[in-house]
Amino acid sequence: LGNFVVDDTVARMRLYNPSILIKQPKIPLAFAWPADDRRAAVGNLDVPVIDLSGFRHRDEAAERRAAEHVRAACREHGFFQVINHGVDAEIYVAAINAINGLFDLPFDKKVEAGQRKGRMEGYAVGHSDRFSEKLPWKETFTFVHGFKEDEAGAVERYFQSALGPDFQQTGRIYQSYCEEMKELSLVIAELLGMSLAGDRRWYREFFEDGKAVARCNYYPPCKEAELTLGTGPHADPNAFTILQQDEVSGLDVFTGGRWSSVRPVSGALIINVGDTFEALSNGEYKSCLHRAVVNPDKERRSIAYFVSPRHDKVVRPPPELLAGGDGDGNGDRRKYPDFTWLQLLEFTQTRHRADGETLRFFV
Ligand code: SIN
Ligand code: FE2
Repeated sequence: LGNFVVDDTVARMRLYNPSILIKQPKIPLAFAWPADDRRAAVGNLDVPVIDLSGFRHRDEAAERRAAEHVRAACREHGFFQVINHGVDAEIYVAAINAINGLFDLPFDKKVEAGQRKGRMEGYAVGHSDRFSEKLPWKETFTFVHGFKEDEAGAVERYFQSALGPDFQQTGRIYQSYCEEMKELSLVIAELLGMSLAGDRRWYREFFEDGKAVARCNYYPPCKEAELTLGTGPHADPNAFTILQQDEVSGLDVFTGGRWSSVRPVSGALIINVGDTFEALSNGEYKSCLHRAVVNPDKERRSIAYFVSPRHDKVVRPPPELLAGGDGDGNGDRRKYPDFTWLQLLEFTQTRHRADGETLRFFV
């Protein structure tokens, strides 16, 4: 999910701002990605669309079927879609539509809601990420959602403090959206657990007092869309991501040696496995490279909800996934060492250059 946050001066934000550059016939070189990263997608990815209504109502046959589809998809590439996911239909629509209100704001107002150094919340544009120095053709607005009771209402308060009283209603929308996403996260955690033949409660509890980062992505149209990318190739470091994309396609996944697209399905949410869940599954499930392409005449919007365990939780596969199942944590078939989400976050956020300078990224 990374963007880097170092010297986000206002001048830089203005210079590399797709909403401002949109009027020009040519894009700056900083937005032109290497040909290899922009190789065209070949067809649609085979992504199961899973109806969660039976699963949510504990219908055993539906649970088994859903778990089988999830298992097959996650062993192959880590992407699936869910419908009848229980997310309130009005909130689902309101959340994607509220994106325009955020990014239609005048530049100065967006800058006011900009990121503070070392923090991941707020408006961002024109960042390199930890995978490439090239700039993505997008603008983002990021906020944090803690699962614990004592963080109730924090999203709404954040919108007010970053954007002022005019955004009270928008703040309410995203507060509700995050609460719906949290509930869904716990259902997805159970589903992933069952699909690994594990104890669904163990997986639910693993995420119960976790955290999420929510990000609204706005991809303006681009006159040289074929030269750039909205989000460059990357894998998500968190456990899993719940993504809503609008009706304009753009999400591609790299699997089997080529890019293929995830076709938008009306009312659906896309789930993808991230690095942390790959490690939790002892490498059974894949965290794949993916990217978002842009479009010469249509804007595209998406909302990513990045789920991670609590900062201090040790990521270690449950005993049944380890060799011998003795759970001593030393099974020689372990693919990853123990780590906490905070340690992985630090690792993805920091690079020390040869000249001694430390680069801070954020995820
Ligand atoms: C992302 O993976 O960070 C964004 C994907 C999208 O906008 O579809
Ligand atoms: Fe991603």
